[in-house]
Amino acid sequence: MHKLPTIVTGRLVLRPFTLSDAADVQRLAGEWAVADTTSNVPHPYPDGAAEAWIGGHAERFARREIMVLAVTLRDGGELAGAISLALRDHDDKAELGYWMGVPFWNRGYCSEAARALVTYGFEQMRLHRIYAFHFARNPASGRVMQKAGMTCEGALRQHVKKWERYEDLVAYGILRSEHEK
Ligand SMILES: CC(C)(COP(=O)(O)OP(=O)(O)OC[C@H]1O[C@@H](n2cnc3c(N)ncnc32)[C@H](O)[C@@H]1OP(=O)(O)O)[C@@H](O)C(=O)NCCC(=O)NCCS
Repeated sequence: MHKLPTIVTGRLVLRPFTLSDAADVQRLAGEWAVADTTSNVPHPYPDGAAEAWIGGHAERFARREIMVLAVTLRDGGELAGAISLALRDHDDKAELGYWMGVPFWNRGYCSEAARALVTYGFEQMRLHRIYAFHFARNPASGRVMQKAGMTCEGALRQHVKKWERYEDLVAYGILRSEHEK
């Protein structure tokens, strides 16, 4: 399995990014509100960073490091966000991550994408465990994890430093056996 997949859900198409998405990525991920609760989105979002990020996706997937997909609307094809599984093959596990552009928040899109990726991870990639972390002050992301069937596994106090502030992380996970139930 070397090519990034395309996954279709009720309202979304999760597909590989192309360089023509770069301007939309810079505009959507470039919003302060998106960078604020993610551990790795730069702010301000530098020119050329989206092209460099997208340009690495195919190779990083081929090396089984990470599967990054664009979250797009089935109706019209607009780019709404990004979702990923960072692979840890040694343990047959992967870390789920995502961001959505602010105009697309609170319509259930991220939960729909997360459910699809969890299903894909267990059924197509044969993963054993999928896990994710969110900042404690970002409960919307916790809801996405719950709606993807994940269980809260605890908190890591002041585990990361973001913009000179220590952030508590909340950990979620789901096992293959739970998904199959
Ligand atoms: C977190 C994020 C991905 C959610 O995307 P989304 O498409 O709006 O998510 P959904 O619509 O599927 O679900 C959001 C849920 O959070 C709830 N929610 C929204 N704001 C909330 C708040 N302040 N407190 C509690 N719940 C909240 C919504 O009501 C919804 O739950 P519901 O369906 O039970 O009503 C989006 O806000 C985002 O991209 N934020 C910035 C980047 C980020 O934080 N990424 C995740 C890093 S772990």
